[in-house]
Amino acid sequence: MTAAADIIVTKAEHSKLKDINLENIPFGKYFTDHMLEVDYEDGEWKNAEIKPYQPLLLAPSLAALHYGQAIFEGIKAYKNADGEAFIFRPYDNFKRFNISAERMAMPQVPEEIFMEGMRMLIDIDKSWIPSQKDHSLYIRPFMFSSDEMIGVRPSEKYKFLVILSPTGPYYAAPMRINVEEKYVRAVPGGVGFAKAAGNYAGAMYATAQARLKGYDQVLWTDALEHKYVQECGVMNVFFVIGNTAVTPDLNEGTILAGVTRDSVIMLLKEMGYNVEERAISIDEIIEAHKAGTLKEVFGTGTAATISMIKTLNYKDYEMNFDVETWEASPEVKRRMDAIKNGVAADNHGWMYKI
Ligand SMILES: Cc1ncc(COP(=O)(O)O)c(C=O)c1O
Repeated sequence: MTAAADIIVTKAEHSKLKDINLENIPFGKYFTDHMLEVDYEDGEWKNAEIKPYQPLLLAPSLAALHYGQAIFEGIKAYKNADGEAFIFRPYDNFKRFNISAERMAMPQVPEEIFMEGMRMLIDIDKSWIPSQKDHSLYIRPFMFSSDEMIGVRPSEKYKFLVILSPTGPYYAAPMRINVEEKYVRAVPGGVGFAKAAGNYAGAMYATAQARLKGYDQVLWTDALEHKYVQECGVMNVFFVIGNTAVTPDLNEGTILAGVTRDSVIMLLKEMGYNVEERAISIDEIIEAHKAGTLKEVFGTGTAATISMIKTLNYKDYEMNFDVETWEASPEVKRRMDAIKNGVAADNHGWMYKI
């Protein structure tokens, strides 16, 4: 499979778009008229088709349902004021997808399928990209094992799909976060750096427990000592201490290499902050708070871009922040949104034209 010409297009007879109000749409609930579906069989990708969005017919013995060989990505497309459509840093997600695939013993998805399939799909459903400010089209590429056989081993067959969901403005209310000391998300040598479905399933119980105690999310700590911070829920995390922004490094393979994280690092540097990617312990964070130098704590991710953390609790030490006084994170968000909405120059080459 080499070119766009190999992707068959079967158009939907009617568009569902007229039945949907694209104002204030909830995240992940509505899907566009079409989807991309590709099969992996006998060592090659085949049957690439853009077709009407529809249910899949799956056998109860489907390998993914039993052993969890499943990975995904999350990307966003935007329209500028002239109605031109762009995807934010899709190559970074493409590369990360194949890193996840390798770790989960799944086949690599070729660039011409992932990138060109996604581009063609979005082009066909372009009218679904909301044009109002802060709205976007959420892109969900995913792959799962599709052998119809029970047995623990890498599957021989896989399916790769891309579906699209229009989303409204994502207002992330400042969060209350508890530092997790019992459950772990990732261990060195594990799969924390992969966007593997099981990582999210494994995190749900701890998150539910934190919610019962009045927190929105957990701040994951390292599995061995519960001392060094990793990620905040499904976001990367930043601490602004004095004029330095610190975020955990990716060296141990326990943290997802966020595309937003990378973008935020670049923007913070442009704004004159020192940025350090290194291990940061909860003790250091508490010391900075006691010394009055811990200025801002925030999470980064595709959904919200920046989520401010107004309360960070460790054991019985609660750190509260007046987010209204913050400077770094609101400015990063403003700069990033301006690039995404085509209002500011895209000096980094982040916006990929459809
Ligand atoms: C576990 C986890 N960490 C971090 C992120 C942030 O990554 P990105 O900025 O690429 O969305 C995500 C979301 O994709 C995630 O699921």
